[in-house]
This record gives sequence, C-alpha cells and structure tokens, in this order.
Amino acid sequence: MPELTKREAWKNLQRHYQSIEALHMRDMFAAEPQRFTTFSLQLDDILFDYSKHRITSTTLKLLVELARQTGLQNKIEKMFSGERINTTEQRPALHTALRNRSNSPVLVDGQDVMPQVNAVLAKMGKFCRQIRDGIWLGATGQPITDIVNIGIGGSDLGPLMVTEALKPYGHERLNVHFVSNVDATHLLETLRHLQPATTLFLIASKTFTTQETMTNAHSARDWLLQQLKDDKAVACHFVAISTNRQKVIEFGINPDNMFEFWDWVGGRYSLWSAIGLSIALYIGMDNFEELLSGAYQVDKHFYETPFEKNIPVIMGLLGVWYNNFFAADSHVILPYDQYLHRFPAYFQQGDMESNGKRVTLDGQSVNYSTGPIIWGEPGTNGQHAFYQLLHQGTKLVPADFLAAVESQNPLGNHQQILLSNFFAQPEALMRGKTPAEVRAELDAEGLSQARIAQLLPHKVFPGNRPSSSFLFHKLTPRTLGSLIALYEHKIFTQSAIWDINPFDQWGVELGKQLAQKILPELSQSSPVADHDSSTNGLINYFRSQKQG
Ligand code: F6P
Repeated sequence: MPELTKREAWKNLQRHYQSIEALHMRDMFAAEPQRFTTFSLQLDDILFDYSKHRITSTTLKLLVELARQTGLQNKIEKMFSGERINTTEQRPALHTALRNRSNSPVLVDGQDVMPQVNAVLAKMGKFCRQIRDGIWLGATGQPITDIVNIGIGGSDLGPLMVTEALKPYGHERLNVHFVSNVDATHLLETLRHLQPATTLFLIASKTFTTQETMTNAHSARDWLLQQLKDDKAVACHFVAISTNRQKVIEFGINPDNMFEFWDWVGGRYSLWSAIGLSIALYIGMDNFEELLSGAYQVDKHFYETPFEKNIPVIMGLLGVWYNNFFAADSHVILPYDQYLHRFPAYFQQGDMESNGKRVTLDGQSVNYSTGPIIWGEPGTNGQHAFYQLLHQGTKLVPADFLAAVESQNPLGNHQQILLSNFFAQPEALMRGKTPAEVRAELDAEGLSQARIAQLLPHKVFPGNRPSSSFLFHKLTPRTLGSLIALYEHKIFTQSAIWDINPFDQWGVELGKQLAQKILPELSQSSPVADHDSSTNGLINYFRSQKQG
C-alpha cells in the first residue's frame, strides 16, 4: 500500500480537517483582522493572496509538514540537478535548465547541457532577426508575413497561449497562426487567407512522428508546392523544431533549418525551448529572454525559499488540502485579462497530463485522489456562464483569480470595471449571503412575507468557497514567465506529495494504438467484426453512410 496515507502528517491533517470543516471563512476574517497580511506573499510584482482559503496557521504548518515528510525538498533538488526523475522514460526533467539565466552548469550524465541550450538560443536569435528584419526571403523574394506553427499538445498550447498573451509585444508585420487539429478544417481555414510566398511553416514536434502534426505538415507542404511550383521552396518556407534529426531529414527539411531540443524537455514544459520559436519570432528574442528570466526568478524562489513562504509550494499544498481532504474534484483558473484567455487551456494539459496518474512511482495503485480536473475561462465572461455553479452549486471548486493592475489597452473605465469584478467574485465566494441578509434585502424591497419565504432559499449563498488571487502590475513577458513557472512548480509539488511521475503520459497511448488499427478498417471492403458490438456498429454505420 502506498505510504502517503500512513504518514503522521496525513493523519494529523485528517484530524485537523474535522475542526476546520465547520468553520466559515467569514468568521475567520472577523476573528483575524490580520488575515490578509498573514496569508499573502509577494514575488517581484506578483502579489499572491491566499487568505480566502479554509485554512489556519495550523493547517499550513501541517501541510508543510506533509511536504517535508514526503521529501519535497529532496525531489526539487533532484529535478534541478538533472537526475532521471522521469523514471518510466528514464529521463531528467530539465525545463529549468532552458531558463537558467545564471548559466551555472547543469549536468546530465556528467555533461553540462548549458552550452547546447545557449547555442540553440543563439541560433533562434539569429533566425528571429532575419525574419523580423525582412532579410529572410521566401521563394519569390518576398519577406515573411505569416508564421504557421504546426504542432499539437505541448508543441502547440504553450506557444499559442503565450503569443496570445503577449500580443502587445508582437511584430507589426508578422501574424502567427497555430494549426493543431488533424481535422482538415483547421489547416484549410488557416491557409485560406495566406499567401504561400510570404508564409513560413514551423513544424513543431518533439518526436516528429505525431500523426496529427505530420499529416498537417505534409498537407501544408503540398499546398505550398502546388502554388509555388518549385521544389526548392521548401527550404525557405519550412523549418523544423524537434529532437529527431533523422525524421526531420526524411521529411525533406534541411537540418540547417532545424532547431533542436532534447529528450529531457517534456512536451508540456517545452515552450522555453526551441518549441517557443513562434513566440520569439513574434515578440522578438529580447522579449523571449524576458519570459525566460521571469521563469528563472520563480525557479530560484522555488529552490531557495522555505516552504512556509514558497508560493508554488503553498499553491500545491492548498490543492492537496482540497483535493484530498475536502474531496474537491476540480480546480478553476479564472484570468481577468483577455490576453490570458488560453491560460486555463494551457494548464489543462500542464496539470492533467502531468498529474492524471493512478499509480505511484514504484507502480502501486494509489489509495487517494491525485490530479484535479482543470478548467476555466476569462472573467468576466465566465461570470455569465458557469459562476452560478461556483456560488450556489453542490460542488466545492477552489478557484484562482488572476489580474493585472494596469491594462495593456487602457480605455475609459474598462479596467476599473474589470477589476471591481475581480475583487468582488472572491469576496462573494468567501462571504456568501446569509438568510438574514437575504431577508433584509427582500424586506427593503417591500415583498410580502409569503413571497420572501418562497424566494429566500434560492437567494442564499452559502459562501465559504475558497480562492487565491494573483494581482500583478502588467502582463509583460517577464510576469507571464513567472506566472507559468509558478503553476509548473505547483504541479511538481503535488506530484511529489502524491508520489507520482508528472513527466510521463502513457495515458495518451491506448487511443492512439486503437486509432492506428481502425484507420485501414475504414476503407476495407468487408464489414468490421473484431471490436465490441458498439465499436463495430459505429464503424460499419460510418462506412455505410460514406458509401451511400
Ligand atoms: O498527447 C501526447 C503528447 O505526447 C504530448 O505530451 C505532447 O505534447 C504531444 O503529444 C505532441 O508530441 P510531439 O511534440 O512529439 O509531436
């Protein structure tokens, strides 16, 4: 049986939960006027308020003790020092080396990886200047105006999220597009508005074998060649970002146009590597390095800061508190910044592909809940969609609210309105509205007692619903880098406590294998018979409809 639930700290937390469960945060705030000061931290320009949580100082002590008993510090050191902590794939997980701005050596098998990291950054910098300054020309002699990143999962979501978030820093001549879905609609709708002569494709794939990416890459090449009618055009319109040199060559991309990364970069942690090329092309290499610097600041903080003051550790521990003691199944991320509209989707992969695991590092089935379901949308849109459930539903959904003090697009009082909502929602979730408050409001409106009795239960908000707030000055490359790294290390913290491997993703394999088996069956002449009756029935129905 896994050790976690046998640990003293775990049992203490279980006992402690009994005393916390009945407490309402509204009363905690009334009893502790210093609560905000006690439970908030600042790192550079990011203020992290975690006072609206169902915790006391004792809760935090016990959670920190759990982190100690599960060896978090040791695990952090192993990650940063390049140990093969991804045991099932026998690899280190060294995204921190990609943003190691100190340049101190990071050893893998006794070899410092920093020279290769810096060499690729230098190559990216040179290429960015050529594209951005219009020196790199397409096959017909025109500068590039459109960059299409073809990739999926970690080779798509990070660059997509960051280029959306940092639009104000984008080059004015360049547009970036992202094609991920193997549904041809995604590629064709993107290409519909583009000119091959001014389009650059980045084929982003760690393995260079991913079915969706390779299918889209081949179709994009056909599109280009059909229109430019010049085989040599591939050389100036296609670059590859991959760890697999051989496959890049087989595809027909000159290795000089390949930007390399390494197997110790996990897909969902790869935006810091050459996979971030679309970001660097769009916002420029200096801004890309600022993004790296922001993440590096958080890496140092995570590595050096005692757990009691360590923001990603506290984020992780709060998640464990709700996930394992309050049985909360999901966690919602709510950016009050339109530029962060893909941030929840990015961490849906970041978190769920990392911590959606059911066995411990040594292969035992866990007897506790692991990674939560991550979801979210930008505020204020979400308020008019799913916040009803957050406020009055039966589920406890811990929430993260994120906002910038200053908008990138100041306009009238938009930002004041946005932020008034950013402040109000966590307050409402925490305070709720009591029956007495509802009654007083309805009395003041002059409603009859009968009508009040009827309406009252519907208008009560239980409150006591936890949230964290992240308030930063402005959404700059550096701040975004820090925010992403905070979440990455939160995920790592939780994996360490749950004793799972956050760096593999075997769960995506079975569906891929079955799809490979099914693909030829869709065009075979005889009816399909060797699946279950549902799968047979669906495939045969599809075939009959297609033929008909
Ligand atoms: O979905 C599984 C996965 O392996 C992700 O982890 C990864 O980010 C994505 O596929 C893309 O993989 P690749 O970069 O090798 O094309």
